[in-house]
Amino acid sequence: MKVLVVGGGGREHALAAALHRSGAEVFSAMKNNNPGIARLSQEVRLVQETDVDKVVEFARAKAVEIAVMGPEAPLEAGLVDALEKEGIGCVGPTKAAARLETSKSFAREIMQRHSVPGNLRFASFDDLEEAKRYVRESDTELAIKPVGLTGGKGVKIQGEHLQNLQDVYEYLEEIFRRDIGGGSVVLEERAVGEEFTLQVFCDGHTVVPMPLVQDHKRAYEGDVGPNTGGMGSYSAENHLLPFVREEDFQAALDVIQRTVAAMAEEGHPYRGVLYGQFMLTRDGPKVIEFNARFGDPEAMNVLSILSSSFLDICQGIVDGALSSTNVSFANKATVCKYVVPTGYGTAPQAGKPIEVDEMAIAEEGARAYYAMVSAEDGRILTTTSRSMGIVGIDDTIEAAEKACERALRHVRGEAIYVRHDIGKADLVSRRVEHMASIRKA
Ligand code: AMP
Ligand code: GLY
Repeated sequence: MKVLVVGGGGREHALAAALHRSGAEVFSAMKNNNPGIARLSQEVRLVQETDVDKVVEFARAKAVEIAVMGPEAPLEAGLVDALEKEGIGCVGPTKAAARLETSKSFAREIMQRHSVPGNLRFASFDDLEEAKRYVRESDTELAIKPVGLTGGKGVKIQGEHLQNLQDVYEYLEEIFRRDIGGGSVVLEERAVGEEFTLQVFCDGHTVVPMPLVQDHKRAYEGDVGPNTGGMGSYSAENHLLPFVREEDFQAALDVIQRTVAAMAEEGHPYRGVLYGQFMLTRDGPKVIEFNARFGDPEAMNVLSILSSSFLDICQGIVDGALSSTNVSFANKATVCKYVVPTGYGTAPQAGKPIEVDEMAIAEEGARAYYAMVSAEDGRILTTTSRSMGIVGIDDTIEAAEKACERALRHVRGEAIYVRHDIGKADLVSRRVEHMASIRKA
């Protein structure tokens, strides 16, 4: 079957690899020439992924039957709506259903309307002075979030990035002045705990969970520095996380199932992958945000251990038949570390070559996924975004981390950076202790 993959990052390389493994003929539409995706594709169209007309024209010309969406921007641009009009089934929500990600106020409000548990106290503002007043009168610390898409970099937390009231005011002023994320803002209660990601496949009604993953958003080791799209992530062999109990997982899954039911009830059935970012607090999991797509890097963790056919899953999503589709994952742990250009998060050095020995990486029991690099004249060059994800796979997190580190030795470049602490026993046990102290408090 002919399947179109939209997007050119590490997540989409993992999508293309999983489709290829399950026998699909892969076509891809992306803005950068990702060499990993290109190699797996019958044909590549270099195009802005939000250029709906061009992507639809390519899909039609190649007679693809299913399109799998990687990033969120094309969802917001209405690509799924346009492809479905052409009779092409999509793994990814319509523009209206993607509001779970593209509008932070929509997500909070639909949870509220349907009494979905796991919501946080929140208020949305399109007036600066009213927002300031809410901050002044709030009796808890707040998370300050531009309403629309900001590439995962627009959220600032009181007590973390913003030290005092003045800092909060200045950030609010900046959001309104520079029209960040559409120039309106959601203020929500700051949740305290440990974060985890729960991704599910969804066909409009049936929800099938994937293994839990923990991402690391801060740019530097020890969880300091600016927030990024994600520097790396791990998952455990039992598909939970060392600080997450079975009942916490069930509570998070219940939140997602009820949200999906709410979407269907309101006439916007959700099809595709739904990503729940949760904070595990002393009162259970709270929703930090939804994403209307796989996470990046989290897709690389879970797709690397998917042991059933991804093509069948995509077909199940499109046909509304997930309840009778086999979805299974190997009982393996994974550790993914992103190789990024030096300065990523502040002033990334683009256009620098990296060298990758893929054979040696495979021999270490790891997988290599290319991200936002460009292949030019036989060389692989960095851009300002993340370069390549390396995933170690083994029976425990500790062994998977070691496999990842061995594999990383086969990626060379003079201007690259890796957060080596991700998945190491030290960092994982700090998370476990942090969660234990929160449960006790
Ligand atoms: P987001 O872009 O919504 O994922 O936010 C980026 C990061 O900010 C999250 O991964 C959290 O670490 C943090 N964050 C967002 N909202 C909250 C909140 N309500 N309470 C505490 N931390 C938050
Ligand atoms: N890893 C976070 C995200 O994909 O949004």
